[in-house]
Formats: sequence, C-alpha cells, structure tokens
Amino acid sequence: MISKMQEKRVSIRRYNFNEAKYDRFYAIAKQSFKHGSPWTEEQYRETLSRKDLVFFVAEIETHLIGYIGGKLSLDEANVYTIVVSKEFQQQQVAHFLLDRFEEECHSANINTIFLEVRESNEIAQSFYLKNEFEVIAAKKDYYTHPIENAIIMKSKSRKKAEHGKEADFSYRDKL
Ligand SMILES: CC(C)(COP(=O)(O)OP(=O)(O)OC[C@H]1O[C@@H](n2cnc3c(N)ncnc32)[C@H](O)[C@@H]1OP(=O)(O)O)[C@@H](O)C(=O)NCCC(=O)NCCS
Repeated sequence: MISKMQEKRVSIRRYNFNEAKYDRFYAIAKQSFKHGSPWTEEQYRETLSRKDLVFFVAEIETHLIGYIGGKLSLDEANVYTIVVSKEFQQQQVAHFLLDRFEEECHSANINTIFLEVRESNEIAQSFYLKNEFEVIAAKKDYYTHPIENAIIMKSKSRKKAEHGKEADFSYRDKL
C-alpha cells in the first residue's frame, strides 16, 4: 500500500453538556486503556452531563480523537480522565489537552492539579512527568478490575504565560 504524508489540523475545544457523543468517548477509552474502559457507557453518559465537571475534546474536523475531563474546586483541580485514540497517540494530542485544562485552572486562579494513575501505567506516568507533574503519594489497592495501587501526582507550578497560544495545531500522520 502506498502511504503519503498529509497534514491535518487538530482542534481543542470545550465539550458542551448537551452533545450526545458519550458512545464515542466510551469507544476511545475501551480501545486505548490497557484494561478496557474504566467507566461504562452509562457512566460516560452520566459523567458528561455533570455541570460541575469540565471536559475538553480534541477533534479532527468533527471526529473525536481524545479528551480530558476533571473537576475544578475552590483552590485545586483534579484530572479524572485523559485519553487519546490509539492511532493518534504520541503526537502531542494529550499534551495540548492538558495545556487547555491547565489554562482553565489558571483562569480560575487554581495553581494545583492532582491526579491518580495506575501503578503499572508507565506510559501515562511518563507523560505526566514530562508535563511537569511529580509523584507525591500512593494509595494501596485503590483500583479494582484488576486491584492495583494508585500513584498520586501533583502538578508543579509552571509559567502560565506559555498557555493560550495553541488552540489548534497541525501534525503529520501516515495515511
Ligand atoms: C497517556 C496518553 C493520554 C498520552 O497521550 P499522547 O497523546 O500519546 O501523549 P503525547 O503525545 O502528548 O505525549 C507523549 C509522551 O507521553 C509518553 N508516551 C506516550 N505514548 C507512549 C508510548 N507508547 N511509550 C512510551 N511513552 C509514551 C512519553 O512520555 C511521550 O514523550 P516522548 O514522545 O518524548 O517519549 C495515552 O497514552 C493514552 O490515551 N493512554 C491510555 C489512557 C490512559 O492511560 N490515560 C491516563 C489515565 S491516568
């Protein structure tokens, strides 16, 4: 098969609560997480309609390829989920999603972001370390199916002036 390089534009935007794309959210998680989706399709439907949470989506045209979601509280934020469709991984999609989430936190005067990650999920930990998170603790047997410890990570403060420039970006992928 002949392959050619083609440039595509990925856009990052806020997810609106009335969009019914939860089946696609679920499909990406099912395909990308090592142990399958951590939430059922029904849990995605419920979670995506929660007005106390914020989600940002990465899309090529209208095609969803990744997302980040979490909660902003008074003086801290928590990332609940971040996932990128397998075929679009390692092309900085998650980096730009996290950047957008951090920008949202910065606008709300929140400097600290926490998250939990499976102890065996070395790829995600590597991604977070690269994005200026640090390990602060662990929770024993925090996860089920399979039972596993959680690593708790916290963002180091970073220069927020870096944010806000990259709502869209292009990358090359092999077709
Ligand atoms: C973690 C995840 C969101 C990263 O998405 P991504 O778009 O590929 O990440 P980016 O391209 O922005 O960042 C690349 C960095 O992530 C890490 N990384 C991503 N994929 C990797 C891989 N296959 N092997 C090793 N490191 C990897 C590395 O640190 C990499 O930096 P490098 O290219 O300089 O080595 C993605 O792997 C994913 O969806 N995983 C399944 C869901 C998941 O585990 N979510 C986190 C739950 S806490």
